[in-house]
Amino acid sequence: MTTRVLVLNGPNLGRLGSREPDVYGSTTFAGLAERCRQTAAGLGLDADVRQTDDEAELVHWLHEAADAGTPVVLNPAAFTHYSYALRDACAQLRAPLIEVHISNPAAREEFRHTSVVAGVATGTVAGFGLGSYDLALRAVADLV
Ligand code: DQA
Repeated sequence: MTTRVLVLNGPNLGRLGSREPDVYGSTTFAGLAERCRQTAAGLGLDADVRQTDDEAELVHWLHEAADAGTPVVLNPAAFTHYSYALRDACAQLRAPLIEVHISNPAAREEFRHTSVVAGVATGTVAGFGLGSYDLALRAVADLV
């Protein structure tokens, strides 16, 4: 049986490909979503990949995962650094939560050094470009 995993992405990640390509690369969000689905399939997972700029929508998707016991790979984007609403939603999850970042926030501006999500995540993968998602999905496959 394949395990379902939600791959959730926060604000501005829909603009991958054109957004600061020196930091985030030239692959579009559609390209990232396809890569995640293929990586997941190779690991026996079924990835449902979503993106929103809306904090409430992201919180509702986390509630959905909490109610269904679904593992989550989450790139909270800028919400990482200040959204207690997102953190509280993450704290309700029952299956593994892997926080993921394309860049390495610890090596960037000071405000990116804080993650309010990290403390309720199973673990964090950051700094490997889109490969961070592959590693996060690998972690989910190992944990479930
Ligand atoms: C990011 C890092 C965040 O600091 C930033 O706000 C993002 C993307 C990353 O994937 O590297 O939007 O989460």
